[in-house]
Amino acid sequence: MDSLNNDFTTTVIGLGKIGLTIASVIAGKGIKVFGVDKNPMVVNSVNQGKCHISGEPGLEELVMKNHYAKTLNALTDTKKAVRNSNVVIVIVPVLITADNLVDYQYIDDAVQQIGQSIKKDTLVIFETTLPTGDTRNRFGSKIEELSGLKMGTDFYLAYSPERVYSNKIIKNLKDYPKVVGGVNEKSKDIAVSFYRQALECEVIEMSSTEAAEFAKVAESVYRDVNIALANELSVYAEEKGVNILEIIKASNSQPFSHIHNPGIGVGGHCIPIYPYFFLNYGLNSDGLVNKAREINDSMAAYSVGLLEEELGDLDSKNILILGLSFRGNVKEHTKSITLRLKEILHERNAKVVVNDPFYTSKEVNDMGVQYKSLNEDSVRDIDVVILQANHSEYKGLDLSMFKNCKVFLDGRNSFNGKEIEQHGMKYIGIGAR
Ligand SMILES: NC(=O)c1ccc[n+]([C@@H]2O[C@H](COP(=O)([O-])OP(=O)(O)OC[C@H]3O[C@@H](n4cnc5c(N)ncnc54)[C@H](O)[C@@H]3O)[C@@H](O)[C@H]2O)c1
Repeated sequence: MDSLNNDFTTTVIGLGKIGLTIASVIAGKGIKVFGVDKNPMVVNSVNQGKCHISGEPGLEELVMKNHYAKTLNALTDTKKAVRNSNVVIVIVPVLITADNLVDYQYIDDAVQQIGQSIKKDTLVIFETTLPTGDTRNRFGSKIEELSGLKMGTDFYLAYSPERVYSNKIIKNLKDYPKVVGGVNEKSKDIAVSFYRQALECEVIEMSSTEAAEFAKVAESVYRDVNIALANELSVYAEEKGVNILEIIKASNSQPFSHIHNPGIGVGGHCIPIYPYFFLNYGLNSDGLVNKAREINDSMAAYSVGLLEEELGDLDSKNILILGLSFRGNVKEHTKSITLRLKEILHERNAKVVVNDPFYTSKEVNDMGVQYKSLNEDSVRDIDVVILQANHSEYKGLDLSMFKNCKVFLDGRNSFNGKEIEQHGMKYIGIGAR
């Protein structure tokens, strides 16, 4: 296969938020796509033209359109899909354990299936965020061992990270350049030509899979370190009695200053996780990256400390946390700071309840947190409100319903402090009062 033409067939392994979107965008170009997922419910829903991912503009319509055009077919059988394709994209999660060790179980399983079914001349592309070197050393070698084929000549191997942002995936796939590296020049060239045709996007050609892997983790680490800087400065600003938001606005008016926003902590499945893809594999643990993790992880406890300064002992205080999601306007709670706050507040014997418009009361209760609906009666006993995820829905929050609330801790600095104080609550922002 020297280049791809419109006859190619693509398998996408993992039909989650990212995989379903990329499979749908490619199938939307008229390319035949097999979408593989180990979850039969996901497969059934896609095969009925239904979208199991919410909050991605345009995705529902695209899944339905592909269903009628018969360009996207889902199945649980990875080997069958791979055998019948000449491009295979892997986009299943690599996570970390509670001890911050890299957990490869999902992707190793997918690679096992690929190795047992790949045919000559197939292009395999890993899109999952990975520690540097994994595409070639961990996965390429495994596929060679299982298939007897040689990477770079018998099959082609490339890495191209997903750099998209939840809520904007389809738009980002079109607008952001696709970073692509291959295990050799030919693998890269074929992958580049695939993406140019399948996504019609700009491509940044990298010198190796390692460089492409490194670039994605570097992007996330940059954000983590930058947020840590904003957090460190916000703690100092608090001490000095100045408002960090006013300061960041002024500082960032200089074109080389890009200070991010401080906050109650960094959650999600990317920024707090990917630094360990460097730290666990040789990055100096006395350096900036590890320190940034520590600073960002300390912000929840620091914020609880601000409450204690204001209220004294939190024993038996009724505390309402707004937002279970790790950030505003998404339904995702991996490493959500709300879960961390809950633990810290329980240690103080406070009574914690959580509201989130993206989750049902059952979903919240099932995570061991009591759900709270928002109305005057239900929040009558609330002593403290903590805004953790700034969902748009909270913009219109009726502050007058918090009749007995003493403190409003704005963990995302997204409310107007004066307005809060007009309702009789003390306003605390992160480095911003
Ligand atoms: N979600 C994001 O915002 C985001 C952004 C950038 C990059 N990424 C990258 O995308 C990866 C996937 O993220 P996601 O949000 O789509 O995950 P997800 O949890 O929404 O979906 C993963 C899907 O893969 C399936 N799966 C797991 N192992 C499998 C296997 N061996 N074979 C077949 N199916 C399997 C699961 O059943 C699930 O449906 C992340 O690990 C990350 O590297 C995600």
